[in-house]
Amino acid sequence: MTRASETDGLVNSPLSSPMLQPWEVFDRELFDLEMVRVFARSWVWLGDTDDLQQPGDYITGTIGSQPIVVVRTANGEIKGFLNNCRHRASTVVTAPGGNCGSSMVCPYHNWAYSLDGQLIGIPDRVRMYPDGIAMEDFGLVPIRIEVAWNKLVFGCLSRKAPSFREWIAPIADRYDRYNFETFQRYPRQLDETYSMNWKVFVENSNDDYHVRFVHRRINAQRKQLDTVVRFEGRTCSGYKPHPESFDTTGGRTDMAEEDLRGHYADFIYPNLTPLPYATLLILVRADPLAPDRTRLVSRIYGVGKSPEEQEADMVNLELTNKEDTDMVTVLMDNLRSPFYRVGPPTTWEGRAAHVMKLVRADVATPLAADEFAV
Ligand code: FES
Ligand SMILES: [Fe+2]
Repeated sequence: MTRASETDGLVNSPLSSPMLQPWEVFDRELFDLEMVRVFARSWVWLGDTDDLQQPGDYITGTIGSQPIVVVRTANGEIKGFLNNCRHRASTVVTAPGGNCGSSMVCPYHNWAYSLDGQLIGIPDRVRMYPDGIAMEDFGLVPIRIEVAWNKLVFGCLSRKAPSFREWIAPIADRYDRYNFETFQRYPRQLDETYSMNWKVFVENSNDDYHVRFVHRRINAQRKQLDTVVRFEGRTCSGYKPHPESFDTTGGRTDMAEEDLRGHYADFIYPNLTPLPYATLLILVRADPLAPDRTRLVSRIYGVGKSPEEQEADMVNLELTNKEDTDMVTVLMDNLRSPFYRVGPPTTWEGRAAHVMKLVRADVATPLAADEFAV
């Protein structure tokens, strides 16, 4: 659906709005452009070092529509590659994670790659390429990987994007103080696909206004009206101070008062929603699959939690995700109308508006000619 002027005028909208309009949600061409111009120049969370302990340990994921594999090499480095065989378009490593031994072997015709990404084997090579093939030209394509806080693995296709630390500069110092390295990943994760555009979910993640109405069951755990909304560069934060009765410090005193007496609903552009507490970190990533399909992958990390407490946190997150996605899919359905126009954002939707402006600015800017030059 593209915007057609004949659809203007039914909904009179006197104040312009930076929020998502119908033609930005279902348009396939726009979606394809976002996969290039938003995702290829961004740092995307791919997993954590818990799954990358031994040589041959790997995880797979996507940056927009691009499959990625991250592997622990023989000499202990963590490297990332496009997870596409150089022969045809098969995925080289198919499972979400595991150990591939000393090489990665494509399932289609069994081309084999070293953990460093070099092409080291082509079955029946001489018969199949009688004129020869330069093996060194067909290694897996490397991408930038950064491991943040010795824990979280981020990947980026662009060689021109700033470092991950610069990417998250406004929250970087605070994030250093949590000591995420000491947090344990919970055994269960959430992985669900919803009928929604990734940006509609991202708008919701950056909307501090809906929280008190859609997530009423947790109202007693927040001083709701003292929420502090911040956004700058490629990160956003909604700070939620807790009442005295809701102590989540876990006995920690080594952080700023603000960080101990509440939690943040943060956002790292383009698709990661971290919710850090003094002893808890919730991560929700929105992977775009199609204009109207988005996969949410959610993990929780914590300090000193019993299995029962971990499961209770997980059930709580499941409920929160359901409350959000139930609401977001209602918006999605109604944005099907080409005639509807959304209204202006409140101050508590300021960070959502900020993110939509970032998306539009990226979509309007072609990648640089040397975006991928090493
Ligand atoms: S597609 Fe991988 S070996 Fe042919
Ligand atoms: Fe929400």
